[in-house]
Amino acid sequence: MITNFKGKTAVLTGAGSGFGLECARIGAARGMNLVLVDVQQEALDKAEAEMKAAGAKVLARRVDVSDAAQMEALAAEVKATFGAPHFVFNNAGVGAGGLVWENSVADWQWVLGVNLWGVIHGVRLFTPMMLEAAKADPSFEGHIVNTASMAGLLTPPNMGIYNVSKHAVVSLTETLYQDLALVSDQISASVLCPFFVATGISHSERNRPAHLAAQPLTASQKIGQAMTDKAVGSGKVTAPDVAQKVFDAIAANQFYIYSHPHALGSVQVRLEDVVQGRNPTDPFAHKPELGASLKASLRGAAAS
Ligand SMILES: NC(=O)c1ccc[n+]([C@@H]2O[C@H](COP(=O)([O-])OP(=O)(O)OC[C@H]3O[C@@H](n4cnc5c(N)ncnc54)[C@H](O)[C@@H]3O)[C@@H](O)[C@H]2O)c1
Repeated sequence: MITNFKGKTAVLTGAGSGFGLECARIGAARGMNLVLVDVQQEALDKAEAEMKAAGAKVLARRVDVSDAAQMEALAAEVKATFGAPHFVFNNAGVGAGGLVWENSVADWQWVLGVNLWGVIHGVRLFTPMMLEAAKADPSFEGHIVNTASMAGLLTPPNMGIYNVSKHAVVSLTETLYQDLALVSDQISASVLCPFFVATGISHSERNRPAHLAAQPLTASQKIGQAMTDKAVGSGKVTAPDVAQKVFDAIAANQFYIYSHPHALGSVQVRLEDVVQGRNPTDPFAHKPELGASLKASLRGAAAS
């Protein structure tokens, strides 16, 4: 929980776009020092200029969150510049789809590298720094927010690689919450689980590194991309709405942050499947046309 954000420091990964950028905007408006992290230099430069113009002290660094050494250098620089951060937003992430057996090793390494290892590095590097600051100062308040997804609580088909990365982030963050509660009352954690929101996420390939280059997309990957484009583009909740929920949750010490609480019905069905030992429920049971069309296109693609 953080009760007063003024003069506190936020580290935000994926700060060049989407939820990261919107949280930086709120942080600047609340008088926070901002550490902006992104792999896309141009977006980072724009965000840096905007936050400085809004009066924030800014450290902007082009860092690939999946890279241990780059994250370690970042953490050292944050400590030297601002001291321990109060709000860490491990948020950078990329989207990917396709039938689970069609993803290449490079696909797995890229998506797990950014979505999971990025969060792991943020947690392992900043938590000890925050705990040390909390020990030295009884008034220190800190909060870590990791971005997962509703895909971390559900298992929508044809996007297994993304589901795996986000389930891991939910598990990591629930454990982080419990572990922190064992050792400190001054630092806690939340997990952000958005449903579809219009951001740059459906153009994630723009930031894919050359050494993990994609093979030509498989048929199911193309179908997955088209479905995500459509779903993300039709979202009514905006990225600024989600960023506001993040700050509200930090102030209220609320663990689960949802953009679309109505989507929780599907989580309940999944958890009932688990508890009752039932086979996984058809995720398209309430939208059979969509399920039928996905089946037809995948089976058509397989036949062609
Ligand atoms: N938009 C949605 O519908 C949605 C839904 C659920 C979860 N999410 C999650 O929200 C988070 C933020 O995504 P967004 O929707 O704002 O998308 P976005 O593409 O607008 O922003 C993500 C940012 O992360 C940066 N990034 C990508 N790879 C990076 C790397 N290796 N190192 C550092 N930065 C990197 C990108 O350059 C980009 O600026 C992601 O973790 C995503 O999986 C998004």
